[in-house]
Amino acid sequence: KFEGLAETPPLGWNSWNTFATDINEQLVKDIADKFVELGLKEAGYEYIVLDDGWMAKERDTHGNLIADPIKFPSGMKALADYIHSKGLKFGLYNCAGSKTCAGYPGSRGFEYQDARSYASWDVDYLKYDWCNTDKLNAEGAYITMRDALKAAGRPVVFSICEWGDNEPWKWAKDVGHAWRVTGDIINCWDCEVGHGSWSSWGVWKIINMRKDIRKVAGPGHWNDFDMMEVGNGMADAEDRTHFAMWTMLTSPLIMGNDLRVASKETIKTLANKEVIAVNQDKLGIQGFRFSNEGDFEIWIKPLENDAWAITFVNMSDKPLSLNFDWEKHDIGDDVNGKRMEAKQQKFKIRDLFNHKNLGDTSKNLMAEIQSHDVL
Ligand code: DGJ
Repeated sequence: KFEGLAETPPLGWNSWNTFATDINEQLVKDIADKFVELGLKEAGYEYIVLDDGWMAKERDTHGNLIADPIKFPSGMKALADYIHSKGLKFGLYNCAGSKTCAGYPGSRGFEYQDARSYASWDVDYLKYDWCNTDKLNAEGAYITMRDALKAAGRPVVFSICEWGDNEPWKWAKDVGHAWRVTGDIINCWDCEVGHGSWSSWGVWKIINMRKDIRKVAGPGHWNDFDMMEVGNGMADAEDRTHFAMWTMLTSPLIMGNDLRVASKETIKTLANKEVIAVNQDKLGIQGFRFSNEGDFEIWIKPLENDAWAITFVNMSDKPLSLNFDWEKHDIGDDVNGKRMEAKQQKFKIRDLFNHKNLGDTSKNLMAEIQSHDVL
């Protein structure tokens, strides 16, 4: 794969969660404009990724992929140029199988040819799905596409969208820059929505689906907990918790909402630079659940310069009065050999969602946390 890319988790937007295959040139240009207008570019978001449905139903007579001429009349190179002119980067989607999940031409047998098309359009990011793969070996299929991208020569972030059945965290470190760890996310808190042979998963379900995979995440190779549902209908508190958790989990932060109609509160959450900085911390250590007492959870993530990100999560239906004695908690990350040592050292505390200093660890931390919200 291309080294030196995605040294921190990719930040961007993807069309699927809101628009599915109902995408077009004007929508994508509007989204690029919104990145700039809403301060999202300033906050660090960079990639605009078109998911399934951008292609024509058939390849051309030479076997080349072509953009849907009705949805994208100016073609992909022109769209890439527009996105690049805003100082942003451009991503496309395809699939390792014979067809994409929505029935468009897949890359199987066309990997090198497709990689050359992407390079000729100045594509910077490829999301590569796993439908219609019959008996294909997952590792082999993703290696083929990685090598094809490499051969085409243009640096591309390679985002592996296998859904965890083939345990990509065990083999994908040198193949892609991120790999999905679960099936598809859906815009609810703790639900499972069945679709016959497969299910979509609410945010809290996704967080809890995989164990023991944090060790494999690091600069250039991330566990991807899927595109976010922030702004897609959950309560603002749930959106904050969702965003905080994706940040703590060092997941790629890929927005999945319609930025043209996003509320102020949604943008306040998504564009919060202090929270994003936790996700983008240079150490790239994936955070984890440190404790849970019933509906009250504490998540921690070691950061550069002996700092710690700590998320207090109230999963109950009622507000929670936090009274947290730092000296009584031995906060540490055994996997990475790091301890907070609040007994020996005073740490300053900052509330990153509200941009407020909250004293230091010599005193108990007192706060009200609303239902399904975080501090
Ligand atoms: C399945 C993936 O997991 C989704 O994120 C999306 O890319 C769809 N396929 C598109 O068909």
